[in-house]
Amino acid sequence: MLIDLLQQNRSFRRFVQSEKISRETLSKWIDNSRYCASARNAQPLKYVIACSPEKNEAVFDTLSWAGYLKNWQGPEEGERPAAYIVMLNDETIASNFHCDHGIAAQTILLSACEDGFGGCIVAAVDRKALRQILNLPVHLDIIQVIALGKPNETVVLEEIPQTPEFKYWRTDDQVHHVPKRPLTDLIVDIV
Ligand SMILES: Cc1cc2nc3c(=O)[nH]c(=O)nc-3n(C[C@H](O)[C@H](O)[C@H](O)COP(=O)(O)O)c2cc1C
Repeated sequence: MLIDLLQQNRSFRRFVQSEKISRETLSKWIDNSRYCASARNAQPLKYVIACSPEKNEAVFDTLSWAGYLKNWQGPEEGERPAAYIVMLNDETIASNFHCDHGIAAQTILLSACEDGFGGCIVAAVDRKALRQILNLPVHLDIIQVIALGKPNETVVLEEIPQTPEFKYWRTDDQVHHVPKRPLTDLIVDIV
């Protein structure tokens, strides 16, 4: 059921690093994103796959994790992502990619989820450093990175109470809690 996949599809930041994801599997998830809506149907998004230990380490060093968790600097060695998909905009196709990147990222993450994997969109990227690592030509701009792997953490959804607090938190048992606004807060009834 779609609802199961949507609920299961959390932002995971700790993984079983030894559980590899093949380039073929990653390509399949990207292939699924070809069916996404695209502004003007321009389809300007391009992707670089990283799934080798050397490349993964280089990509990892350019990412920032879970800004609200001040005492956590990101996944330790052994629990780091097994792969990354770096999402790019091809400037020769479109200078404005509108919301294509969000739709595509969700599609890739849901595809991963369906196959028993998970991931996290990371927009806090040292783009200058990553551009150099990937040796990108000038017409390809880094939009965001999708970190992927076999999740090794429990994430629990909480309903946001009446207070406007929306920061996620981690309890001593290492469970990650993510508050979500209730439906009644989302639908605006204008009479
Ligand atoms: C556009 C976007 C950028 C994000 N950037 C980061 C990031 O740089 N680092 C990170 O750890 N998480 C990042 N996240 C993950 C969010 O923190 C996460 O979606 C949010 O806490 C809600 O958790 P959930 O995805 O499990 O519902 C990003 C999510 C989105 C949609």
